[in-house]
Order: sequence, then C-alpha cells, then structure tokens
Amino acid sequence: MTPLLDIRNLEVVFDTKDGLVRAVNGISYSMEQGETLGIVGESGCGKSVSCMAMVRLIPEPPGKIVGGSVLFDGVDLVKMKRDELHTIRGGKIAIIFQDPMASLNPVMTIGDQIAEAIVVNLGLSRHQAMERTVELLTRVGIPRAQDRIRDYPHQFSGGMRQRVMIAMAISCQPKLLIADEPTTALDVTIQAQIVDLVQSLQKEMQMAVIWITHDLGVIARLAQRVNVMYAGFIIETGPVEHIFRQPHHPYTVGLLGSIPKSDDEGGQMLSYIDGAPPDMIRLPAGCPFQPRCQFATERCLQERPDLTVVEDAHQAACWNTQAVRDHHAAKDRGRA
Ligand SMILES: Nc1ncnc2c1ncn2[C@@H]1O[C@H](COP(=O)(O)OP(=O)(O)OP(=O)(O)O)[C@@H](O)[C@H]1O
Ligand SMILES: [Mg+2]
Repeated sequence: MTPLLDIRNLEVVFDTKDGLVRAVNGISYSMEQGETLGIVGESGCGKSVSCMAMVRLIPEPPGKIVGGSVLFDGVDLVKMKRDELHTIRGGKIAIIFQDPMASLNPVMTIGDQIAEAIVVNLGLSRHQAMERTVELLTRVGIPRAQDRIRDYPHQFSGGMRQRVMIAMAISCQPKLLIADEPTTALDVTIQAQIVDLVQSLQKEMQMAVIWITHDLGVIARLAQRVNVMYAGFIIETGPVEHIFRQPHHPYTVGLLGSIPKSDDEGGQMLSYIDGAPPDMIRLPAGCPFQPRCQFATERCLQERPDLTVVEDAHQAACWNTQAVRDHHAAKDRGRA
C-alpha cells in the first residue's frame, strides 16, 4: 500500500543577511492513513518549518525548499504549482496553530469563517454550509452553537477559540491534520480536553495527525510514533513505547530525562542537556549534537551519522548507541 504521506530528503533553507540558515537538513519519513506521529525537539530544531514547507507555507523568499520530495496521496507537493496548492491546504491537509487568533479573521463572525471554507472547499450551498458549521461547532464542544455562529473571535476564550480552529480544520474532512503546539498557550485542564477532542475526531474521521509539541506527556498519550528532531535533522524515530523505554540517541536520553518527574518524596527531579543548540548557519562538522554530547568520540567530530536501525522500526543517528546502552544498563544496575 502506498503511504498517505512520504517525505524524502526534504531540505529547507532561509537566505538571511547573516547567511544561509539550514533549517531542515534532509529529513525523510512516511505516514499511513489514520496514524498519529509526534514531532519533538528543542526550540528552533525545525519542527514547524519542516511541516510548513511540506504544505508550501514557508515565506519564499527568504525560505526555499532546496531538495527532496513530499508525496501526498501520490502527488509531489514540492513540484505542485502555486495555483493548485489550495486544493491541498484547507482541503486534504489542515493545520492548527498555537495561536488561533493569528489564523482567524477578527472582523468576520465565526459562522461566516467556517461556512466560507466549506463553500469553497466542499462546494455546498451557503445554507447547507451554515448548518454544517453549527454541527461542527457542537461536535467540538461549543455550547449554544446556533447562537455563537454570530459571534466574533474575540468573544471566545482561548480554549474555545482553539475548538473553533479545530472545527474549521475538520470541516473539509482532511486526511491529515497538522497540529503545531495547539495546546501550549492553554491551561492544563483545557489542554487535556483538546487532546481528547482531537483523538476522538481522529478515530471518527480516520485522519492522520502530526502533533508537534514540547510536551512528551502528550506524545506518550497520543502518538504511535515519534520523530525526535535536532538542528534540522531527525536523530531518532520509532514507536513511542520503544523510544520512551529505551532511547538510543544521547539527545533523546537527555530530552526524556528533562521531563519533570515526581520522586518518592514528592519533590521534583529535573535533569537537562547542557549547552545550547547549534547555530543553524554554522552547523558543526560531523554529528550536529557532538558539541553537547558526553559520548562523543573522534569519529563524531568528523562524520555525520545517518539514521540506522536499532530494533524494527526504531532508528537512531548515533555512532555510539552501544556506549549509550551500556551506560544506561550500568545506571539501572546502580539503582537496583
Ligand atoms: N522566516 C525565517 N527566516 C529565517 N530563519 C527562519 C525563518 N523561519 C524559521 N527560521 C529558522 O528555521 C529554524 C527552524 O525553525 P522552526 O520554527 O521550525 O523551529 P521549531 O522547532 O518549530 O521551534 P519552536 O519549538 O520554537 O516552535 C530556526 O533556526 C529558525 O530560526
Ligand atoms: Mg515551531
């Protein structure tokens, strides 16, 4: 079966006055219909740009896709002409962002905005589109949807606005939903509700979801697979339970270690990765993580490791996965 999405060697740069920012450096992955993929990594590692480039939403210039392909339903979006892209965006692929206000039109009622998208993308009449809008708003948990379609975005709370965005996103029955940190600005209870909502909609609609987040807890709950990104590379990928149980890349080990955990005394333990991510204009030679890595050897300074299989679908890009494993086995023995 051909995958829903098949990204091969995608490379994105930004031509800035300081130099060429290498934001995405040849990433490849594919997704099946209905699957959920998490993307994690520190700020600036290319999570958003890689997804925005895929639907050709990066500003060009300064941005440019300089290599690779993005096959969606068998069509290469990288080669698609600008005037054909609207059939993909808002139609087969929908996106929700952290800040719904940035995507909503402040001077148009919520009802008009959603209905308009439905008229354009599904070709329903205005009356039918408005009925569908009320159904959708009810489905995403907006109380008194029939009345609220006449309200403007500022009349909704942050959490409700995000629900409106989700209604808009699913209005055209997308095959893929990209959620770029949609819950970061919301409080924890509302966050959990939004995650639940997307999960139930996903089951109903059989859509694939890419969930970008800093919150590894969300990934653990929601995703089957996770891509860990570092400096524009995917440095580890695989089934969520594998990677959480036994991360093989030192960066992932650090990332998982940096989740606040409650210890037995009820306090907080926090470990973190020393140092800062590299300058994306001057990436280090060899492994991009090498300057911060406690396992780095001479080889890491010279040669960049590709993703290689550690177990089944689990892959890591590191020359020293054996040393990482031994280190953790020793630590576990120490704890026992
Ligand atoms: N318009 C732009 N011009 C120049 N550089 C850009 C532009 N947009 C993004 N970048 C650079 O591309 C790189 C990847 O950015 P991206 O927004 O994908 O990071 P991210 O992983 O989504 O981070 P965050 O977690 O903060 O959202 C960063 O180094 C960023 O500075
Ligand atoms: Mg981002």
